[in-house]
Amino acid sequence: MIRIAVIGAGYWGPNLIRNFTRCPHTQLVAVCDNNPDRLAKVLAGYPGVAAVDNVETLLERNDVDAVAVATPVGTHAKIGIAALRAGKHVLVEKPLAPSVREAGELVRTAREVGRILMVDHTFIYSGPVRKIKEIVDSDELGDLYYVDSVRINLGLFQHDVNVVWDLAPHDLSIMDYLIGRLPKSLSAFGTCHTDREGMIEDVAYLNLDFGDGLLASFHVNWLSPVKIRHFILGGSRKSLIYNDLDNAEKIKVYDRGITVSQDAEARRKMLISYRIGDVWSPQVDQSEPLQGMVSHFAECIRDGKQPLTDGESGLRVVRILEAAQRSIKAQGGRITL
Ligand SMILES: NC(=O)c1ccc[n+]([C@@H]2O[C@H](COP(=O)([O-])OP(=O)(O)OC[C@H]3O[C@@H](n4cnc5c(N)ncnc54)[C@H](O)[C@@H]3O)[C@@H](O)[C@H]2O)c1
Repeated sequence: MIRIAVIGAGYWGPNLIRNFTRCPHTQLVAVCDNNPDRLAKVLAGYPGVAAVDNVETLLERNDVDAVAVATPVGTHAKIGIAALRAGKHVLVEKPLAPSVREAGELVRTAREVGRILMVDHTFIYSGPVRKIKEIVDSDELGDLYYVDSVRINLGLFQHDVNVVWDLAPHDLSIMDYLIGRLPKSLSAFGTCHTDREGMIEDVAYLNLDFGDGLLASFHVNWLSPVKIRHFILGGSRKSLIYNDLDNAEKIKVYDRGITVSQDAEARRKMLISYRIGDVWSPQVDQSEPLQGMVSHFAECIRDGKQPLTDGESGLRVVRILEAAQRSIKAQGGRITL
């Protein structure tokens, strides 16, 4: 049993609390939040779990092996580093930190003190994304040509981060898991329709170039009247659409594409033929991703294993987010990573 404390009991913290309570490998010992009303409300359903109103007191406890940090993004590095230095293993909510500098500091500290640092890139623990990884790794799609992702809805406005830092970590972490390398450069546009002074962008477009024919595009938006969660992977052999809102057929693989003639004269005339084949929808595991995520955290602590979503993967995502932020400020100026 790994003894856990959750720090931050706002919107997301209760989901972690519920999943750590249900996990057979973890015991929820304490919940910490500096808002006492919030703490009392959330802990009402969990008798025997200690309520702690500040991080310093929590980190002095000897009955806590690991903490999960679900506080606002700006506090992740400070709390995470203090917890690591206090000898705790640390799970941090996405995004790992609000800057590359702070994310790097978290990664270095974890290495120095020999504790597990994991980031909650929740989708990596979901059935559909695991299935897509299998399909990509089996080379069924062939060479990847493009990624096209849309994550838009009438979103919950955040006060401390813009739509890119709030929503894009999901899709960027999926891309990082599937492709396993950073893009060469990116360009991003974003705009704000509410808080002009703080410039919390609510609509943004990111374009990533891997420099080898693979392009990736991400649209994130809090103003859309409809909710769309599409992630398309286009390959030389087949293509795939992941629609997270389609409960019956979340993934569809299309045996469709183009064939460019090998004949020199035909190539000169750009003769292309179209291939229209089958469409199939693989069965995917429907269990709750957060349950898989918390079990994996406990397993990594118990067995000294490197997490699938370790600090380095959190840092790679933060590198893209920070570059996108710089590009938005430069009206879409291309940033080399
Ligand atoms: N994985 C996901 O799908 C997912 C979904 C939503 C949010 N999140 C992440 O979870 C984190 C929290 O987001 P939220 O929407 O729950 O925020 P929130 O503002 O609703 O909750 C944050 C809580 O932390 C508490 N807090 C703030 N500073 C603290 C401190 N220094 N010590 C103790 N408690 C403190 C606040 O009182 C509040 O109750 C963010 O990093 C967010 O990106 C992840």
